[in-house]
Amino acid sequence: MDSALQIDGLSLSISGHMILDSISFSLGKGSFAALCGLNGAGKSQLLRCMKGLRKIESGRILLNGREADGKERMRRIALVFQDAALQVVGQTVEKDIAFGPANMGLQEDEVRERTRKAIDLMGLNGKERRRPQSLSGGELRKCAIAGILAMEPEVILLDEPFANLDYPSTLSVIQALLRLHSEGYTIITVTHEAERFLAHTDTLLIMEGGRMVVQGRSRDVYRTLPDHGIYLPADTAFEDLTWLRQ
Ligand SMILES: Nc1ncnc2c1ncn2[C@@H]1O[C@H](COP(=O)(O)OP(=O)(O)OP(=O)(O)O)[C@@H](O)[C@H]1O
Ligand SMILES: [Mg+2]
Repeated sequence: MDSALQIDGLSLSISGHMILDSISFSLGKGSFAALCGLNGAGKSQLLRCMKGLRKIESGRILLNGREADGKERMRRIALVFQDAALQVVGQTVEKDIAFGPANMGLQEDEVRERTRKAIDLMGLNGKERRRPQSLSGGELRKCAIAGILAMEPEVILLDEPFANLDYPSTLSVIQALLRLHSEGYTIITVTHEAERFLAHTDTLLIMEGGRMVVQGRSRDVYRTLPDHGIYLPADTAFEDLTWLRQ
């Protein structure tokens, strides 16, 4: 079966510096992947390249087995930035979420339906008329995720969605992502909180110095995290790497 997302020898240099060095990996449809790596490893740049925000020098990106150019990836791949405030621009939560699908030229009914569904999926019911500026960090992030969901992307990339969130907000964003996972979305989440999040994922990707150094089933490869400078509580069973008991 074709991969939902396949990256083949992707390289990127900025001002003569190699930022991404021949990155290759692939994810099956419905994969829930964590992308880990130290500061400066190239995680955010890789997401930007995949989304189509950065022109790549060499390499190919395939969606469902077919090469997708930057313009097509802009439409089919969603990226949630670390700073959700940059992404949420509408006057109210509801208007913000409706903005994307409306901009795609969809009929009003369809826009309303998608907005409703995204609000339900992210658990934002009752907050539809709130001004985004009045939302908490966790709510704002869920609003940003809802806004991209309403555009019905195939792949969702999230850059540090738990950054600056407290314990309950982190849990509620994890729960929201698990709901998306159960809906069949293919998801890559960049996180520095492997020990909180890993047991929920099926795939672990580790970057170091612009290269993809580990890719595998989270359960099989999580013990390699400390080899790449990433904290992992000693002697922890995979199942214990989570706060959220299901
Ligand atoms: N415009 C730029 N000019 C030069 N170097 C850049 C530019 N943008 C990014 N870089 C470099 O690319 C490398 C990868 O950056 P990137 O933001 O992808 O790291 P990251 O893995 O997301 O790190 P973090 O965990 O800190 O967010 C870094 O060394 C960074 O300094
Ligand atoms: Mg980053």
